[in-house]
Amino acid sequence: MTAITVDLPLVASGKVREMYELPDAAQPSLLMVASDRISTYDAVHPTPIPDKGKVLTGLSVFWFAQTGHIVANHMISATDGVPEDLRGRALAVKRLEMLPVECVVRGYLTGSGWKDYQASGSVSGVALPPGLLESARLESPIFTPSTKAETGHDEAIDINQAAELVGDRALMEKVAEVSIELYSFAAEHARQHGVILADTKFEFGIDTSDPARPLVLGDEVLTPDSSRYWPAEDYEVGRSQPSLDKQYVRDWATASGWDRTPPAPPIPDDVVQGTRGRYIDAYERIAGEPFDAWLARASA
Ligand SMILES: Nc1ncnc2c1ncn2[C@@H]1O[C@H](COP(=O)(O)OP(=O)(O)O)[C@@H](O)[C@H]1O
Ligand SMILES: [Mg+2]
Repeated sequence: MTAITVDLPLVASGKVREMYELPDAAQPSLLMVASDRISTYDAVHPTPIPDKGKVLTGLSVFWFAQTGHIVANHMISATDGVPEDLRGRALAVKRLEMLPVECVVRGYLTGSGWKDYQASGSVSGVALPPGLLESARLESPIFTPSTKAETGHDEAIDINQAAELVGDRALMEKVAEVSIELYSFAAEHARQHGVILADTKFEFGIDTSDPARPLVLGDEVLTPDSSRYWPAEDYEVGRSQPSLDKQYVRDWATASGWDRTPPAPPIPDDVVQGTRGRYIDAYERIAGEPFDAWLARASA
């Protein structure tokens, strides 16, 4: 993909997505465009992964459709208001006032959760039983929020700190409850498709254009960038797991000798292709259809 040029006011540019204003919409709306950029350790690599943005968008749309009975989401349309050359990677969404926390849910003990557990026996203030092994399935999923750092790394916080950041304890408790419900629903769906959803991160906002100020699920949802998906057939407790997400690139990045400080190194072609294959595999396993089916629907 060449650089995206969009003839709309740019509202924000993140590591992976650009947000543009959709000025003529009936309510405050954004065009959320997922690029093919990939970041590891919070640094963006100079090499894009072809079609990655379309996988992220296709999977988010899949999950928005599946989870509407649990909580409202920001999606308006994958076609209406979306310029033709961006179809598949862009969505028209409701503009929200985002809550300043990342809503992480963990069903398995891995990543920073495993590190915290080894150091303290708990994760984000949630005490866990002793003697758990790496990648162990937790008795029930836990809510482990983190800060939404403008730059650098997000920091694990407990629900009290999250409530303070959001300024509304009742709202934060609802967010935790909804997050766990979303995770449980998605993990069950994934399990039926031979995939373990180890953990995931949601971002919520408030729709301030509605006088009732409803809580709305925003951002991307349950994608390989915001989640750890493990092929169920390879799962074994007591070690780290191969995964359908960017762990493959992280492993390459670590082995390359990069010290994880920006700038991130370019990615060699075989790793680009391997990564692209994993993203598409994730789409096809989870959505249960060929990736091309999404591309065809989005461009119709
Ligand atoms: N509906 C929405 N309204 C306003 N902001 C949103 C909405 N959905 C997502 N966002 C924000 O847009 C940004 C998405 O871009 P991204 O590249 O993922 O950024 P980041 O590098 O912070 O992860 C995030 O900051 C996210 O909080
Ligand atoms: Mg993001």
